[in-house]
Amino acid sequence: MTALKSDAPFRYWPRPRDILGLVDWIRTAYMHREKRKMLVDDRTKSRLTRDGIRIFETSDFAGMHAAGALAARILDEIAPLVVPGATTGQIDAAITAKVDEAGATSATIGYKGYQHASCISVNHVVCHGIPGAPIPKMRTLSNSLEKRRVDDRLKNGDILNVDVTVIVDGWYGDTSRMYIAGDIDRRTKNLIQVTHDALFKGIEAVKPGNTFGAIGHAIQSFVEANRMSVVRDFCGHGLGRVFHAPPNVLHYGKPKTGAILEPGMFFTIEPMVNLGEAETRVLADDWTAVTRDRSLSAQFEHSVGVTEAGCDIFTLSPAGKFHPT
Ligand code: MF3
Ligand code: CO
Ligand code: CO
Repeated sequence: MTALKSDAPFRYWPRPRDILGLVDWIRTAYMHREKRKMLVDDRTKSRLTRDGIRIFETSDFAGMHAAGALAARILDEIAPLVVPGATTGQIDAAITAKVDEAGATSATIGYKGYQHASCISVNHVVCHGIPGAPIPKMRTLSNSLEKRRVDDRLKNGDILNVDVTVIVDGWYGDTSRMYIAGDIDRRTKNLIQVTHDALFKGIEAVKPGNTFGAIGHAIQSFVEANRMSVVRDFCGHGLGRVFHAPPNVLHYGKPKTGAILEPGMFFTIEPMVNLGEAETRVLADDWTAVTRDRSLSAQFEHSVGVTEAGCDIFTLSPAGKFHPT
């Protein structure tokens, strides 16, 4: 608390030296802002925009393509493992082995205390499902009482998102997609289709001069036209030589709002779409996010880079397996 009592006489007009001080303060703040804009990353020569978004060099795209391709290839290769009776722990172990085999590093192991090479989110789990942990039950008596299956074994009709982030030569590749264990009904198939297509509506909006709001709007309007909802509690993110950087890439919004896209920006788009309401809740393990109404949720994620012409997708599936059906 600052003391209010002072021996200095009360002055109505500021003294000249106070005015000079203020001018100096404004000048310093302005210079600092300009400096920040010009800030050069010693490894990449990249700079930051006024919104704190890094603008990478043309030569940096190659590193992102290499990291993205590995993450996507791993997601291709685990597809045959996703069958009823398999466990999420087995799938994650296979992912860990593939990251190691490639001589790459998992970005998630050790990240904020997380212990696994993937997040595996089953049915009404929105994101950050923990592989190997008993799968949360959709049918629980009340919202406050969380029930889980006896283990992490997949059942016929389960849908799941597997999210993998790898580091290759310091560059991050972050991608996720949906998988289906056994047979699912038409409505569930439709959820997966709409979520997949919503990601690509967002990607189509990625071009210089467009805004981040336009990306969010493209996703939200498409999802809501299909009478589903977009999760607000989690968003995409800038990435590059770090996992999560500005900006927050919202999956809802209005055109002509938010930062303007510039060539050299790298970020993820990763819409989560619910059959029911958008609200989420995090379980007692402090990671697993579920839909509050326990409706089914789906997600797809790509890492992209803005180019002069539009957009490069770093995490395209080498085998063309991104969509599960
Ligand atoms: N891969 C996730 C994303 O898309 C982040 C997972 S962080 C973890 O941003 F710690 F949960 F793995
Ligand atoms: Co991400
Ligand atoms: Co991810």
